Amino acid sequence: MVDRQARKRLAVVGAGLIGTRHIDIIARSNDAQLAAVVDPVAAAAATAKSHGVPWFADLRTMLADDIADGVVVASPNQLHVEHGLQCVEAGLPVLIEKPIDSDARRARRLVDHAGALGVPVLVGHHRRHNPIVKAAKERLDAGAIGTIVAASGMCWLYKPDDYFNVEWRTKQGAGPVFINLIHDVDLLRYFCGEVQSVQAVQSNRTRGHEVEDTAAIILQFCSGTLATISVSDTIVSPWSWELTAGENAAYPNTQEACYLLGGSHGAMEIPSGRIWSNPGKRSWWEPIGHDDYDVTSDDPLDAQISHFCRVIAGQEKPLVSGEEGLRTLLVIEAIKQSAQEAVPITVSSTPERSSEF
Ligand SMILES: NC(=O)c1ccc[n+]([C@@H]2O[C@H](COP(=O)([O-])OP(=O)(O)OC[C@H]3O[C@@H](n4cnc5c(N)ncnc54)[C@H](O)[C@@H]3O)[C@@H](O)[C@H]2O)c1
Repeated sequence: MVDRQARKRLAVVGAGLIGTRHIDIIARSNDAQLAAVVDPVAAAAATAKSHGVPWFADLRTMLADDIADGVVVASPNQLHVEHGLQCVEAGLPVLIEKPIDSDARRARRLVDHAGALGVPVLVGHHRRHNPIVKAAKERLDAGAIGTIVAASGMCWLYKPDDYFNVEWRTKQGAGPVFINLIHDVDLLRYFCGEVQSVQAVQSNRTRGHEVEDTAAIILQFCSGTLATISVSDTIVSPWSWELTAGENAAYPNTQEACYLLGGSHGAMEIPSGRIWSNPGKRSWWEPIGHDDYDVTSDDPLDAQISHFCRVIAGQEKPLVSGEEGLRTLLVIEAIKQSAQEAVPITVSSTPERSSEF
């Protein structure tokens, strides 16, 4: 039997779309127990009641009660740093939903402050917890395709038209680069290393909203790897992580690949788990075949919560630290700037700190 006392007590801040998923996962976890729900709206009070835990309209009040070992922040992007700072100042490790914030300068302040206090910050780029990603990463690191020369990624989705009835989703600050592509950029950073520079173009031609519906991007990695990635929320297609990885039953699974990685000794399809190579001499005239490795998808949000508990217990280091979340955000900011100014942008490694807080 699982010792309930050993379970880490986690509070969830923001009980909206993703926050309620975290709440459900924590409630049935063997590693965690739900300590509190923090969200000013009445629906959140009802959620807390249904789980038999205290409800708070405000994070500071919850922190003063000393009832949690860690906090999951799933509030709107613009509040992430403010909430993160309150947690680390109270000495509580915090798992912040992606993006770490909507502003890299604010995020820098949080990462530095948490580092100085020695309190872990994790960012919810949950795909890295998927066994599919771990399997691909292990093989790439072991040289399964040699040196990665180029990569190609697709995030082509069709969001139903009524998705855009919510006004903020059509305005600056939203858009598929910030909402969706950030996950793909994070995974490509995981596979290929740091991004040195980006060139991007974007278009709102199909939907006509203020914000882009489609973007195409060239990434140059510090390693020399080149990548092309594109994102659209207005393409009917089987090629996106959502429809290929099978990690969320809400989406059909097309069993296709959405990333192709090309190396000096082979090529890899992800998430379908296929590695192509010449069995003999490397040459386009020689036979080429593939080995398929097993890919069992799992709910990475579950794995992320268990990992968070082990970080709180001091047993593991964050897989996606605040610094990692910040670096992914810096690439997204560079992509947006490149698209706006129609020039290549070098990705900043040290944004100034904001003095906003
Ligand atoms: N990892 C993923 O795949 C994934 C998926 C969806 C959303 N997200 C991220 O999660 C975050 C939340 O997104 P969502 O779609 O659940 O949004 P949402 O609007 O459904 O939920 C946000 C919740 O935060 C609450 N809130 C607002 N101000 C608050 C405050 N001061 N204190 C506490 N709670 C407050 C709101 O009342 C709301 O219930 C965003 O950062 C988003 O980018 C991540």
